Amino acid sequence: MSDGYSSSKKTDDICEDFCGRATRAARGMSRLRCLLREIDMKTYLFLFVVIPVGICGLYLHGQKISYFFRPLWESPPKPFHVIPHYYNENVSMETLCKLHGWQIREFPRRVYDAVLFNNEVDILTIRWKELYPYVTQFVLLESNSTFTGLPKRLIFKKNRDKFKFVEPRLIYGTIGGRFKKGENPFVEEAYQRVALDQLIRIAGIGDDDLLIMSDVDEIPSAHTINLLRWCDDIPPKLHLQLRNYLYSFEFFVDNKSWRASVHRYQSGSTRYAHFRQSDDLLSDSGWHCSFCFRRISEFIFKMKAYSHNDRIRFFHYLDPTRIQDVICKGANLFDMFPEEHTFKEIIRKLGPISHSYSAVHLPAYLLNNAEKYKYLLPGNCKRESG
Ligand SMILES: *[C@@H]1O[C@H](CO)[C@@H](O)[C@H](O)[C@H]1NC(C)=O
Ligand SMILES: *[C@@H]1O[C@H](CO)[C@@H](O)[C@H](O)[C@H]1NC(C)=O
Ligand SMILES: *[C@@H]1O[C@H](CO)[C@@H](O)[C@H](O)[C@H]1NC(C)=O
Repeated sequence: MSDGYSSSKKTDDICEDFCGRATRAARGMSRLRCLLREIDMKTYLFLFVVIPVGICGLYLHGQKISYFFRPLWESPPKPFHVIPHYYNENVSMETLCKLHGWQIREFPRRVYDAVLFNNEVDILTIRWKELYPYVTQFVLLESNSTFTGLPKRLIFKKNRDKFKFVEPRLIYGTIGGRFKKGENPFVEEAYQRVALDQLIRIAGIGDDDLLIMSDVDEIPSAHTINLLRWCDDIPPKLHLQLRNYLYSFEFFVDNKSWRASVHRYQSGSTRYAHFRQSDDLLSDSGWHCSFCFRRISEFIFKMKAYSHNDRIRFFHYLDPTRIQDVICKGANLFDMFPEEHTFKEIIRKLGPISHSYSAVHLPAYLLNNAEKYKYLLPGNCKRESG
């Protein structure tokens, strides 16, 4: 049998352990004091450790944490009606149209490709070479302000001689930035898109002409645009499902890019936009290569210029050595969680993107000039510094 003291240890609370040896006689008083001290300790811990660490953590990582919990605060968008896409170079256009349930036209529609340009010279070249055979007019608008209100040089203007091949079909416009400090970047973006709308009209677009609305790095494949210009009855507003790549065609992310769209133009109602405009999505229609730059300095510029520049939570994110490292690993430049709407998808995509060794079905101009654009192909993650 144990003595009184040790048996009471079983029945008594942690306070005994915490405060040490109170005698049986003094226990009544000391237990109270003990309780107070214990509360004190917990309160102090809470006030001076848990809360500050919590606030600090939220301050530094709040955005990251909120992304992890995205499935709780944002429900997934309504699913698209995905249209199967048929293509082989040896199948006639008539058959291709029929496979999609459409009729072939007597002559193709005119096609307008309109973009807002930031600094993507190489990707723009690959885009325009891909689309050149089927585009009637290329429309490009450039501002001297980034969406985040940073002054920017007119980079297209400076490089215009590299685009002589489109010159007869090019409508180029510039617009002055508004340089409003502290404004939401989406306001400047919307302002530039309205100006682009005007430029498209100046370019002479007419009803039922095709208008491609996409960012420079969202490249529809040539055969997709050829199909859409030749077939009747295509949906009036059609989103294009593109393969998502990051940094280069070495890092295939998923097939979920949908923002690019093709419209049968209707004067008075068609507005240039980059959000969801219909439920129709044509499968496997091209490539979306995000952050596909030749130079580290272009990465830094884009990180600051981009509408989500609030993601630069730490200055060291802009360190060139770190950026090079992140690119070669296929990791995230902003150290964010994947932007997904289910925990399952977030967890599946955690960690770096795996390397892809396929360069099959990439834009023809890229493969025909592989040496020049080596950095976009598998196995060449090292970028030019400066
Ligand atoms: C595609 O068509 C061409 C010309 O009709 C023919 O020479 C070639 O063998 C065909 N290729 C395939 C893969 O069927
Ligand atoms: C931007 O362009 C506008 C219009 O051309 C001009 O008035 C303005 O001075 C430019 N601003 C900068 C910072 O280059
Ligand atoms: C993406 O689409 C292509 C072509 O349809 C398919 O081969 C590939 O498996 C898809 N990949 C993923 C991850 O969905």
